[in-house]
Amino acid sequence: MHLLLEILLFLFMVLYSFLEALVKLFIPAKKKSIRGEIVLITGSGHGLGRAIAYEFARQQCRLVLWDINKHGVEETAEECRKLGATAHAFVVDCSKKEQIYSNASKVKQEIGDVDILVNNAGVIATTDLLSTKDDEIQKTFDVNILAHYWTTKAFLPTMMKNNHGHIVTVASAAGHLVAPFIVAYCSTKFAAVGFHRSLTDELSALKKDGVKTSCVCPMFINTNFVTGSSARLMPPLEPEEVAKRVMKGILTNETMIFVPTFLKITAMLDRFLPTRGVKALWRLNGLKFDVVVGYKDK
Ligand SMILES: NC(=O)c1ccc[n+]([C@@H]2O[C@H](COP(=O)([O-])OP(=O)(O)OC[C@H]3O[C@@H](n4cnc5c(N)ncnc54)[C@H](O)[C@@H]3O)[C@@H](O)[C@H]2O)c1
Ligand SMILES: *[C@@H]1O[C@H](CO)[C@@H](O)[C@H](O)[C@H]1NC(C)=O
Ligand SMILES: *[C@@H]1O[C@H](CO)[C@@H](O)[C@H](O)[C@H]1NC(C)=O
Repeated sequence: MHLLLEILLFLFMVLYSFLEALVKLFIPAKKKSIRGEIVLITGSGHGLGRAIAYEFARQQCRLVLWDINKHGVEETAEECRKLGATAHAFVVDCSKKEQIYSNASKVKQEIGDVDILVNNAGVIATTDLLSTKDDEIQKTFDVNILAHYWTTKAFLPTMMKNNHGHIVTVASAAGHLVAPFIVAYCSTKFAAVGFHRSLTDELSALKKDGVKTSCVCPMFINTNFVTGSSARLMPPLEPEEVAKRVMKGILTNETMIFVPTFLKITAMLDRFLPTRGVKALWRLNGLKFDVVVGYKDK
């Protein structure tokens, strides 16, 4: 085709997409039904993962809950059963590939094929890079990003075979924006966003349009994951409100879920503004959290 014609088509398509998005703002999106589907959530023994598990329980899903914390994950399972769902608790250390693979086979054999995978388990070290221990850095990468590969490799094959399923990547605002004293954390969350976006593209290239993907990028949540957190423009969120927003996004096949929604604008400004502007914006936002800084000038 003539290049000029293709460029015109491209511009038309972009315009059309903008208009479509504008119209969609005013009509509530149709929600898919996930009743009875098998949902696996990592790190569901506390915090956001637990709140997400409760949301899926309310949708009458069959829950498979993974966490390194036995007590926490069993408590979540018990509460899910009270909400009328079936729930199975597994103690799995997501920093260990072999544990992920062996427990995944167990899930497939004893419970069935996972329809929705939520990679939520995460760890953080809030300290300057030079004082962060090697094994802390390693652990951050193992749990926050490499585990996503192992769980996805375990559960994606049947999703692709059935052309049905959903992979949910819990990243963070720190997957788009940076802050000091969480260098390893930011790196893994940028990686998680890249993992999600590239996987989405790959599923599309392989014409597996029935396998959906969503990436979740929240600001601070009140879970003790980071302590002493505050920001003027974005006060800490409650895990329940984030979980509700995540559920809505999953049911409407949203690919990128920013919480609060306003964060999307901040992420755009971060790319668009000059460096000084970005710094001023963050000063305005007054982002704070507890950190331990060990580095001292000799
Ligand atoms: N809290 C925040 O401010 C915030 C903001 C943005 C994104 N997030 C992300 O949300 C996710 C959940 O965080 P949260 O705030 O609920 O934290 P949390 O600490 O309350 O919960 C994390 C859960 O993951 C489990 N976990 C940790 N290491 C594990 C391992 N090796 N194997 C299995 N389970 C493990 C923990 O036991 C815990 O139950 C994380 O990926 C985090 O990066 C959190
Ligand atoms: C699952 O993970 C646990 C660790 O919590 C491990 O002991 C066990 O061997 C793994 N595999 C199976 C099949 O349970
Ligand atoms: C979401 O995707 C599923 C699977 O392709 C589809 O059945 C459903 O209609 C979609 N829902 C929305 C709201 O787009």
